Amino acid sequence: MPVRPVLRMGDARLLRRAEPVGNFGDDLRALLEDMRDTMQALNGVGLAAPQIGANLRVVIFGVQKNPRYPDAESVPETVLINPVITVLEEVIDDEWEGCLSLPGLRGLVPRFRGIRYQGCDEHGALIDRAASGFHARVVQHECDHLDGILYPMRVVDMRRFGFQDVLFPSGEHTASE
Ligand code: NI
Repeated sequence: MPVRPVLRMGDARLLRRAEPVGNFGDDLRALLEDMRDTMQALNGVGLAAPQIGANLRVVIFGVQKNPRYPDAESVPETVLINPVITVLEEVIDDEWEGCLSLPGLRGLVPRFRGIRYQGCDEHGALIDRAASGFHARVVQHECDHLDGILYPMRVVDMRRFGFQDVLFPSGEHTASE
């Protein structure tokens, strides 16, 4: 299945509130295949359906343990449909984020440290997990896309927003959600 173009910030389709998925049929399967292929081709950490123009509450994410980056936290490969997030830890952490809809840019974004997320997978089976740290951050970033929120809208100090290669000339923070 084809790698689809990722919409970039400025496209009005990224600003919509996405619709819940009601039908777990072939269309959903095809959409997920395109999302996986697109995320993989771009080395993304996560992707939300609106980023390829599908106005549905579907996100995928996942990070494999990489021996080159032993400190990077792994995140389970997940398809999350109709997600609901509950805050478990009111503590807020600032960390750098990128997004496939803003290629080359990074910003320092506050996120809740601990969350619970619920939803279902592509077969309709329930998902109910607690997550913290990077895992929780990725889920919050992806689910924001379903409400038309891009991470720069959450950057508090715009001096902490800019081009990745300028901010981090030695190559840190390359992952994009
Ligand atoms: Ni993103």
